Amino acid sequence: MKANILSSLFDLGGNYIATNLLAEQLGITTAELFNNIEALRAEGYYITYDKLQGYQLLDYENIVIPSRVKEKLVNNSLVTDIIYYPTLSSTNDEAKKLAANKQEGFVLVAGRQTAARGRLGRRWDSDVGGLWFSLILKPKLDLSSWPLMSLVLASAVARTLDNFLPSPASLKWPNDVLVNNKKIAGILLEVMKNQDKENLLIAGIGINVNNNLPGDFINSLKPTSLYLETQQKQINNDILAVLLSDIADYYNIFLQSGFTKIRQDFKERCIHLGKNITIKEANSAITGLNLDINEEGSLVLQVEDKELLVTTGDVSII
Ligand code: BTN
Repeated sequence: MKANILSSLFDLGGNYIATNLLAEQLGITTAELFNNIEALRAEGYYITYDKLQGYQLLDYENIVIPSRVKEKLVNNSLVTDIIYYPTLSSTNDEAKKLAANKQEGFVLVAGRQTAARGRLGRRWDSDVGGLWFSLILKPKLDLSSWPLMSLVLASAVARTLDNFLPSPASLKWPNDVLVNNKKIAGILLEVMKNQDKENLLIAGIGINVNNNLPGDFINSLKPTSLYLETQQKQINNDILAVLLSDIADYYNIFLQSGFTKIRQDFKERCIHLGKNITIKEANSAITGLNLDINEEGSLVLQVEDKELLVTTGDVSII
């Protein structure tokens, strides 16, 4: 019943509904409605009550309603289940705990995260209003090509964000999605084994949508959000539906035809191809001309008269 109440309130797009009317629509008493609303509030949903107007779901733009996402999927070949919690520590950590009993295509979404992680052990600020989720994948490919999923997913995120932005999203190797050179989204890939010793890929995706941004830079990039770039609140539920469809498209292309097409996509959006870059990793740094991104997803760098391949690190343009 709680899920039905929530989707009814969500469908009103932030408008009020009279108590009697809502109870009648759901086939419950007003007392039952009241108890369920209290339970939803305890879970972290902001539902206001006005004597004259009834109930209203506040900030519906920030909330994900799994049934509504599923209905909107244009490509539903990947997603098997979607679960949403108003608050989690980290969707990647929670997805790992649940992974043993979940199929490929399981999606775990949080309204906010209290201990989210970024790449290279960084903190990831995840205030209310952002889109924070993890997707469980089992790519039927050699484990050595799983890191390419970072580029595949970043390309899919960029394609989705183009629908909501005035200017196209760009990419920084291997996982940063940018708008006007500011970071709007990132991807964190983690590999784990389930009970059957099968490898699973936990793909964590974080997109700044309507959330407050961290004051500091995210790995040397200024952060931005869809709200900042468009000056209006965007609806997380709609973005997730488009993104999960785009991910399904890109994932199918990658599994069926390899990296070539997505490599082309990534290169077209990449901000540092043909530029002099520095790649920092732990205590070392390497500088050179970025000639290419190869079929293995590595950066091809010209350093003096040699060509070097770089497989990890943080890129900055010099
Ligand atoms: C990065 O750019 O460094 C990667 C950021 C990844 C953040 C997402 S939000 C959902 C998932 N849960 C986490 O704890 N991290 C990822």
